[in-house]
Amino acid sequence: MKPFDFLILGSGIAGLSFALKVAPRGRVAIITKKNRAESNTNYAQGGIAAVTSKEDSFELHVRDTLEAGAGLCQEPVVRTIVEEGPARIAELIELGMKFSGREVPEGSGEIELDLGREGGHSRRRILHAKDVTGREIESALLAAIAAQPNIEIFENYFAIDLITTQKLGQAGPSRCVGVYALDKKSGRVETFAAPVTLLATGGCGKVYLYTTNPDIATGDGVAMAYRAGATVSNMEFIQFHPTCLYHPKAKSFLITEAMRGEGAVLKSLAGGEFMDKFHPLQSLAPRDVVARAIDSEMKRTGADYVLLDATHRPARFLIEHFPNIYETCLRYGIDLTKEPIPVVPAAHYQCGGVRTNVDGETDIAGLYAVGEVACTGLHGANRLASNSLLEAIVCAHRAAQKVGAPAPFAAAIPAWQSGKANNADEMVVVSHNWDEIRRLMWDYVGIVRTNKRLQRAQKRIANLQEEIQEYYWDFIVTSDLLELRNIATVAGLIVACALERPESRGLNYNLDFPNPDPAWGQRDTLLRKG
Ligand code: FAD
Ligand code: SIN
Repeated sequence: MKPFDFLILGSGIAGLSFALKVAPRGRVAIITKKNRAESNTNYAQGGIAAVTSKEDSFELHVRDTLEAGAGLCQEPVVRTIVEEGPARIAELIELGMKFSGREVPEGSGEIELDLGREGGHSRRRILHAKDVTGREIESALLAAIAAQPNIEIFENYFAIDLITTQKLGQAGPSRCVGVYALDKKSGRVETFAAPVTLLATGGCGKVYLYTTNPDIATGDGVAMAYRAGATVSNMEFIQFHPTCLYHPKAKSFLITEAMRGEGAVLKSLAGGEFMDKFHPLQSLAPRDVVARAIDSEMKRTGADYVLLDATHRPARFLIEHFPNIYETCLRYGIDLTKEPIPVVPAAHYQCGGVRTNVDGETDIAGLYAVGEVACTGLHGANRLASNSLLEAIVCAHRAAQKVGAPAPFAAAIPAWQSGKANNADEMVVVSHNWDEIRRLMWDYVGIVRTNKRLQRAQKRIANLQEEIQEYYWDFIVTSDLLELRNIATVAGLIVACALERPESRGLNYNLDFPNPDPAWGQRDTLLRKG
């Protein structure tokens, strides 16, 4: 058994920020299932939203967040996160994070932050590092972590299941006391124990066939928390990003919304703009509106994609502001300074998750959740662009304050019991089931839903879950099997939440209930394992 004071699952912005804050108080283990930098954070492009300019105000940022959230945000949570953002940004800068600047006025030598704009924001307020903000944040945090002797990172360790006193058969309210994790290199399952466990495992984009997310995003944290008895909330609100590169060889490459913020416009294959039919803000309308508009345009014309055109902007400006996107598109034979980029919507962000308060507390003692895995009430029915990095860094700070100093702790935890079977043929079934779930989620539980499709999805997922359960207990665990079990659980939760909400609101668009129902205006969907 590996005992620690603080156990952190995940090494994105949420996990690393929390680790830095608690390290002076005790021994910290960070468990991460691939290499330490591999996370959604690492791929964030547009930036981090925070009020830093004289033209902006907390009031405006709060208002924009509430509007995007379609009546379901918790206003006190929104206020807290918006108001605490600038202090956390200042800390990031102190750690060495370099946000892009610009000279104002040109030639003066005076540099101020270059603030970008994205859909739904009424002001320029997105701090960014060109178009690789996430990579820069991740490396600044990892550099700071490397200087902390109290923090040990376990790379290629896959957290399988939370260990709770309830699962151990102890009476009284359940408390999380650790986690079983698979060492992917040795194949052994190890036991980590701590009085405080932070879930910072990110989102679940890989539940869908097409996604902007990297392979790590399989909803493991939500699935683990649900199995452990925590409340999961609002999983129907899956955000589809409108502009993912469409190219047969490109896997999950995002074209940042900041490009539309700098004037790029959406066009049909025939070359005409179409967003004026859908929203006064046209290509910069809130994300749910743009994704649905593209979906509708593709269905109307039978096209496989639409176009994002920035060719009217000077080539130098585009290359300077979006160097990563420029280079990547060029590798696929697209020169974005001369031709429009083919784009399609793809699953991007999980607005729901493990239910927490703004301090990251779940309803299981000793278990905290921060970042995309958590549902704090900030995003409501639709996340405002670039609010997620902000939420993660503010809530990580608050959770670190909340947990305080480590308490004396002793837990008798039995070792993991593994199945024995190891049949290579059966791996075909695992990969078949992976594909089946992701395709059925895309086809039946996507941007536009109906109750019939949701019910069909529910039946199939239930069958698949049964099959996976059989495997799970018989076979030696592998990360593929564990991820399959988790995406099946999360797919089931998304469908259950979508079926529970008889209205269209924000990202949950159901043709059987095309309008919002005022009775659901402040109601979250809540699921807890019976
Ligand atoms: P992540 O950064 O995803 O980290 C999760 C960590 O948990 C990873 O280290 C992963 O390996 C680990 N993990 C997961 N499961 C397990 C397990 N079972 N065992 C061990 N480890 C595990 N948001 C913005 O605000 N602004 C943006 O500009 C922006 N751009 C984006 C661009 C892209 C392409 C994507 C995909 C997302 C973007 N987002 C953006 C969303 C944002 O990046 C994420 O919401 C945020 O980074 C999540 O941070 P996190 O720390 O919660 O999770
Ligand atoms: C983007 O850069 O378009 C993504 C921003 C976000 O998801 O917040």
